[in-house]
Amino acid sequence: MIKKGIILAGGKGTRMSPLTKAVNKQLLPLYDKPLIFYPLSVLMLAGIKNILIIVNKGQLNQFRKILPEKNNLGIKIEYKEQSSPRGLPEAFLIGEKFIGKDNVALILGDNFFYGQSLTKTLKKNISLSKGARIFLHPVKNPNLYGVATIGRNNRVKKLIEKPKKTNSNFAVTGLYFFDNKVTQLSRKLKISKRGELEIIDLLNFYKRKKLLKADFIGRGGAWLDTGNINDFYDASNFISTVEKRQGLKIACLEEISFNNKWITKEEIDAAIKFYGKCDYANYLKKLNYP
Ligand code: DAU
Repeated sequence: MIKKGIILAGGKGTRMSPLTKAVNKQLLPLYDKPLIFYPLSVLMLAGIKNILIIVNKGQLNQFRKILPEKNNLGIKIEYKEQSSPRGLPEAFLIGEKFIGKDNVALILGDNFFYGQSLTKTLKKNISLSKGARIFLHPVKNPNLYGVATIGRNNRVKKLIEKPKKTNSNFAVTGLYFFDNKVTQLSRKLKISKRGELEIIDLLNFYKRKKLLKADFIGRGGAWLDTGNINDFYDASNFISTVEKRQGLKIACLEEISFNNKWITKEEIDAAIKFYGKCDYANYLKKLNYP
């Protein structure tokens, strides 16, 4: 069972400069909320209440303003800093103490997931006791991502980071579930040619031991990129379209918490005060509290 999750929210955000010169990318608005709300909502939908957020050195206070350790979400938030972006598996080294003897989920701070069966898929995989789980999604441009080739019974045959050529269109999304061996294995990783510790190398350790399984975010779900400014606006438009049509918000953290029975109307009222007069607070006011 996974009860802890890490959000990796550092990185230089160079592709989004000058927007990211002063503000961390994960705090930029994805339609009506900071980007980090979306990956946090995914962990919360999975039922994870213990969360470590890893941020760039010097940017802790920016994050604390919007997601304080003492929050109205009924979850435990901790922070750690990463001094420079040395690769995704560094999350498990920085988070070693946080992980302790438990299994852990990792989500990248810039990943957006949405879909009818998402919570079901999360809940199904959260029971992991051994090995690692990845979540795949078909994309038109797999060469921009980690790519998985799938064999019979959905077995992962091959994993490659940003291959120049591939026959598979399955991208490895930025959500991973690991058993407690992950810290030990991350310590064994060597810096790659592009100068980073690679998540694909870590996953390949598990694959070689036949301990890697893949699940799918099928075509009825959405995994959207926020890698560059155009992707960012496309994702914003997607959220705006869905929210305007349904009158329901994607990644309203307090709503998820309330539905999980982690908070009561009291914390919602405190959250309304915290956000002040705005559309998000108005939405919280209008929710149905049985
Ligand atoms: O989004 C999914 C993809 O994420 C996977 O398909 C790839 O296998 C995986 O390597 C990763 O690729 P990216 O090229 O998108 O990773 P990027 O370096 O852009 O980092 C993703 C996020 O993690 C971004 O929000 C910044 C943050 N980050 C990244 C690194 C390398 C950190 O906080 N610290 C880091 O050291």
